[in-house]
Amino acid sequence: MNATLESYDDIPYQGVPLPESRPDHLAVIGHLLGLDGPDPATARVLELGCAAGENLLPLAWYRPGGTYLGLDLSREQVAHGQRLIDRLGLANATLRHADIMQVDARWGTFDYIIVHGVWSWVPEAVRTQILALCQTCLAPNGIAYISYNTLPGWRLRGMVRDMLLYHVRDETAPRQRLQRARELIALLAEAPGEGALGEALQRELRYLTGVADSYLYHEYLESENRPVLFTDFIAAAGQHGLRYLADAELHTMFASDLTGPVAGWLQGVSEQIEQEQYLDFLRHRFFRRSLLVHDDRRPDYEIDLQRLWPLTAHGLWWPDGGQVGNDDQPQIWRNEAGEAITVADPLVKAALGRLTQAAPAGLRVDRLYAEALEANGASDTEGLRAAFLEALFNLFATQAVSLVLTPIAPRSEASGAAVSLARSQAELGFAAAASPWHVGVRLDPFSAGLLGCLSGDAPEPSRLAQQLLAQWRDGRLDLPLGPGDDADRLVVANVERLLQLFARHGLF
Ligand SMILES: C[S@@+](CC[C@H](N)C(=O)[O-])C[C@H]1O[C@@H](n2cnc3c(N)ncnc32)[C@H](O)[C@@H]1O
Repeated sequence: MNATLESYDDIPYQGVPLPESRPDHLAVIGHLLGLDGPDPATARVLELGCAAGENLLPLAWYRPGGTYLGLDLSREQVAHGQRLIDRLGLANATLRHADIMQVDARWGTFDYIIVHGVWSWVPEAVRTQILALCQTCLAPNGIAYISYNTLPGWRLRGMVRDMLLYHVRDETAPRQRLQRARELIALLAEAPGEGALGEALQRELRYLTGVADSYLYHEYLESENRPVLFTDFIAAAGQHGLRYLADAELHTMFASDLTGPVAGWLQGVSEQIEQEQYLDFLRHRFFRRSLLVHDDRRPDYEIDLQRLWPLTAHGLWWPDGGQVGNDDQPQIWRNEAGEAITVADPLVKAALGRLTQAAPAGLRVDRLYAEALEANGASDTEGLRAAFLEALFNLFATQAVSLVLTPIAPRSEASGAAVSLARSQAELGFAAAASPWHVGVRLDPFSAGLLGCLSGDAPEPSRLAQQLLAQWRDGRLDLPLGPGDDADRLVVANVERLLQLFARHGLF
């Protein structure tokens, strides 16, 4: 335990908002599977191993009617999160410096329990305690979220871990271990990979050259890292009176992307859990985010898509070429990360276009459908409704669109001023600013500096650029300028780009 404590204090985990873990998302999954649960707008939420509250505190900020309790063993991380609570005067959130082993029924019951990046990375006794707490502290209709590493897919990462642990075996100080591990990664990543396994390892090593110190350390060099078979995890949860509800990444539960004999064979595997186990084998899955409920609750995997109508949707997608297609030709749409989806249905194209226009606000699904019909000059029919709901469900299941049961009220600030949460996260050095939809907008010194300048005057790019350039000239801001770069032009262009990004995500 002391080694864990020291490592997290020394190399704090740089968390970010995790959209798949938020109560709003869990509640929608429960709702679709026939298990309506506590309203996320007023829920009691517990996060175990919450680090500095990077995930928890934005939830508390955007859902002021709920209460949020996070605990973590790292004093440093809790103190860092406390600074954000203090700055925001966040009365509905508490962070406690505590050990998961100290928690018991006296802490109360919670509608949602979130445990991300903890279960596989703590000793056996703590793993058992996490499941025991989900039994004793979860409200009768609550949902718990636990993420963990899975076998057999994780074994490839395990091979790299074995090599790194061997290389750093004589070092005890976390920073030195990290430095030694980086040396070996750099060396091995350049070596030729022999055969299929060698090539896979090579890809893994190259990927590791770009990851953050905190991830590298806590995933590969921490003393504990226990991957398990999905079915073993579910069996362990079962021993604590818990049942599998769903995967937080809903699309992974279904075999719809599979073709050929294996797809036919899987259809004959009737048990949901067993089917997903085989899907893990087929997809070499190495990580899971499982949702658990009390054993007496029975999810219905025959999803009634009519349940989508009253929900509120949000999404950010743009069609290649800029024009929303109004025919049934396949059209490529991309998100901010450049990920592509192909959409043929003209109603779905219109709906994606409307969602992007409406952002950061969301749109009710029934209204979205009506507006998509209108945009296409189409009339409502059973067939169109069914196709629309199915497409929307797929977009939600693949996390291309988010859905909530209760709309998220915007936090009012003076026009042109950054939302206090985002500005405070920037000032306190958080890795990301959270949007109302719990999307983390990455913060580097420049974007953090810009958020700090958005104080209520009209967000005029040239004035903001001058403010940032003044900070750069005073040595208060670092600009990654190359030789011959025109600082003024570069700063104005980046300010314009970031203002659009912040506006889309409701950060000011
Ligand atoms: C990998 S980090 C994940 C942090 C955060 N949940 C996230 O995903 O961004 C694991 C966290 O669990 C905390 N932790 C480990 N063992 C713990 C224990 N026994 N009690 C409380 N917190 C613990 C660590 O201090 C660390 O902040």
